[in-house]
Amino acid sequence: MAPLISSPLFNLLLISFTFLSFFLIKSYALEGRKVIESHYHTVEISSLLPASVCSPSTKGPSKRPSTLKVFHRHGPCSKYSQDKATPSLDEVLSHDESRVESIHFKINHNVDNDKIEDKKAIVPAKSGQSLGTGNYIVSLSLGTPKKSLSLVFDTGSDLTWTQCQPCARSCYTQKEPIFNPTESTSYSNVSCSSTQCSQLSSATGNSPKCFSQTCVYTIQYGDQSFTMGFLSQDTLTISPSDVVPNFYYGCGQNNQGLFGNTAGILGLGQDALSIVSQTEQKYGKYFSYCLPSSSSSSGHLTFGNSGVSSNVKFTPFANSQDTSFYFINILGISVGTTQLSISPSVFKTAGTIIDSGTVITRLPPDAYSALRTEFKKGMSKYPSAPAFSILDTCYDLSNYTTITIPKIGFTFDGNVKVDIVAMGTLVAVDSSRVCLAFAGNSDASDIGILGNVQQRTMEVVYDVAGGKLGFGPGGC
Ligand SMILES: *[C@@H]1O[C@H](CO)[C@@H](O)[C@H](O)[C@H]1NC(C)=O
Ligand SMILES: *[C@@H]1O[C@H](CO)[C@@H](O)[C@H](O)[C@H]1NC(C)=O
Repeated sequence: MAPLISSPLFNLLLISFTFLSFFLIKSYALEGRKVIESHYHTVEISSLLPASVCSPSTKGPSKRPSTLKVFHRHGPCSKYSQDKATPSLDEVLSHDESRVESIHFKINHNVDNDKIEDKKAIVPAKSGQSLGTGNYIVSLSLGTPKKSLSLVFDTGSDLTWTQCQPCARSCYTQKEPIFNPTESTSYSNVSCSSTQCSQLSSATGNSPKCFSQTCVYTIQYGDQSFTMGFLSQDTLTISPSDVVPNFYYGCGQNNQGLFGNTAGILGLGQDALSIVSQTEQKYGKYFSYCLPSSSSSSGHLTFGNSGVSSNVKFTPFANSQDTSFYFINILGISVGTTQLSISPSVFKTAGTIIDSGTVITRLPPDAYSALRTEFKKGMSKYPSAPAFSILDTCYDLSNYTTITIPKIGFTFDGNVKVDIVAMGTLVAVDSSRVCLAFAGNSDASDIGILGNVQQRTMEVVYDVAGGKLGFGPGGC
């Protein structure tokens, strides 16, 4: 009889060991599941396909003050969804390419457009317009009595504008009645000698013109789209409790382009004439938005900092010469459990902006090819499908109802880690062609763009005065 074996101490040890190993095995399994959960998404294929019924988000700050509902322009939640002109994904992606080309052009040639002899000869001419069709709209009101207008909201533009009667030269077809300044008691023209008139140069890239003492603006959006008219002031109503008197905007008398039946653009850039700068006293140059997960849901655009979630993490804005776009720094990208090995100089050389109007995120060529290689490894069990437009990594998932995909994560300056949701990782042409929703720039010196597909469902917070951009999960 070995006294040790029957000793209570041994029993205790044995029990502890058994318990410990049980615990270890269990926690190992748990750990395994956690790895799957934290590095992979489980996606239902049907969730990637467009829905025909609007199911507005119940999340988010609908009760927050200064909040506007955000809809995808062509989804079933939008009153534009009945339009015959709803573009195909192919058209959306080709317009997106035009927008990216015009952003690259603007940033690479940060000069007054007027000084370029023949801008059209340099910007690749394409039919359609560079604002892209994959954009989001909000509805606000202008004038007294107030008139409702649906505007595309755009962090890449500064001057807000709408088409105005009498459309002296031309107006495109829009859904709502065209704004008539003569019917608004709070409307006024802006003189050529005003500070705001001179601020048009940086806000629009074009020097102001003068027509019988009245300041005239011009904005070109890269190819054949433009708006031109009077710089004006009127009362802008965001919500019944959010009224901005004497708001400066463009009252367009000559407007051309496929702005998709909306009344114009809401400029959320950071130049002096943007709505962000003009409402500084009221909202402290602070706004946030959540872009819905799909075109059949809704999101929000909120001015001011009330009610911003505490799990929003902030990365500093990067310095830049450009006064409109919002620059940030990417430090790295992960795919599944793998941190991609991309030299930091790849992101530094190109720089990055976040843009609400670009659809598909564009990465420097080296970063994109590393991302694609690793994503393909994680997707190797799924049959591949031919490329679609600018999307070169596609899968035929017609035999699947549910798939598991590696999570893509970005690390921004300040060690801010942001996971891209499944709806921000893949876009579906149909179930037989589901593609990675990223693309590479062709030139390593072209700026990277964090596009709106990747921003879906995130609370994106622009603390412009505080010099930082925030990301929070599950905003809508
Ligand atoms: C604004 O200026 C234009 C051009 O001078 C003029 O035609 C228009 O009547 C003016 N509108 C108002 C309300 O003063
Ligand atoms: C789907 O399954 C069928 C039947 O097993 C097979 O013949 C077909 O090749 C599969 N398609 C794809 C794209 O994997």
